[in-house]
Amino acid sequence: MSPAPILTLENLCKTFATNDTPAVNTVSLQLQQGEILGLLGPSGCGKTTLLRLIAGFESPTAGTITLSTQTVSSPEQCLPPEQRNTGMVFQDYALFPHLSIADNIAFGLRHKSKGLSRKAIQQRVKETLELVGLSGLEKRYPHELSGGQQQRIALARALAPRPSLILLDEPLSNLDVQVRHRLRHEIRQIIKASGISAIFVTHDQEEALAISDRIAVMRQGHLEQFGTPEEIYTQPSSRFVAEFVTHANFLPAILSGDVWETEIGNFKITAVAQDETEQGELMVREEELELVPHDDASVIVRERQFLGREYRYCLQTNSGKYLHARTGVNTMVPVGSRVEVKVQSPSPQIFAA
Ligand SMILES: Nc1ncnc2c1ncn2[C@@H]1O[C@H](COP(=O)(O)OP(=O)(O)OP(=O)(O)O)[C@@H](O)[C@H]1O
Ligand SMILES: [Mg+2]
Repeated sequence: MSPAPILTLENLCKTFATNDTPAVNTVSLQLQQGEILGLLGPSGCGKTTLLRLIAGFESPTAGTITLSTQTVSSPEQCLPPEQRNTGMVFQDYALFPHLSIADNIAFGLRHKSKGLSRKAIQQRVKETLELVGLSGLEKRYPHELSGGQQQRIALARALAPRPSLILLDEPLSNLDVQVRHRLRHEIRQIIKASGISAIFVTHDQEEALAISDRIAVMRQGHLEQFGTPEEIYTQPSSRFVAEFVTHANFLPAILSGDVWETEIGNFKITAVAQDETEQGELMVREEELELVPHDDASVIVRERQFLGREYRYCLQTNSGKYLHARTGVNTMVPVGSRVEVKVQSPSPQIFAA
């Protein structure tokens, strides 16, 4: 028999008294031991509210939260945060400025792991600093560390009491791009090495793909799709997910016999995201368009951007519609020239228009 999930949400809802629409709307999901869940969605879709419900800072309007086998939240009873085996890392680190790094990390141990001796706390602080790769900084104060180091200390503080679940609310959004890229790999390694399960909130799709074992895409309080990064990227369940997770073009398409006709070609598509439609939109990701220079072609290159690893093109079709394409730096097509557009998609998808 497989072990009980670390976290089970059942039909979880939260409507704030001042709002008409729910911030979290009938969310159900399960998280397995050691799994990293990426929670992805636009601003205001309910990501922070969902984390705060799980941590115990908010109580649900309906539904339940179960940690391992204990129901910790329901409209009838709601355990306070300190009685839940969870740790939270905030966007702005929230380190205590007047406490040394060692005392910042020990803070949670004194409050959450009561009964640990002073020696045991010192040992745990040392081990946790090693885990986040910052040994030797015990005596410093937060203002004596870089932003990236502070973020790793915030992670250490949440990990030190060895919670069963750690909740990270956009932990990297205050950092510059390079530190962000490095830290997202480090955070994944640290969490995996600790064996603790995690929910990682972000509104950056690339970050979610890189860090998560599974991704939950939220929209206006509800779960739009839940799956592995590969599933979410290659088989988005709706145009919303496709637009949010991939760089895609959407081309008007009409079903004729068994092919979908579009301005740039006809496609035979077996799997259609929404059934029984004869008019739709073909999704082609920007990296799936191949550009072949051809003087008689109807598509014109309007703009080209050099992005280092690739070119991004803006193209205009005969009907005036704009398309975007990304190619390797070896494909350099002049602005103003004409190109034939070929679609190299392993699984083209149609969404209802
Ligand atoms: N304490 C509150 N009282 C009333 N409404 C709230 C409260 N907290 C959040 N909301 C509302 O609930 C909705 C979801 O907010 P939430 O902070 O969960 O979004 P989010 O997905 O974390 O957004 P962001 O990416 O901007 O952080 C928003 O419409 C917000 O205005
Ligand atoms: Mg938020």
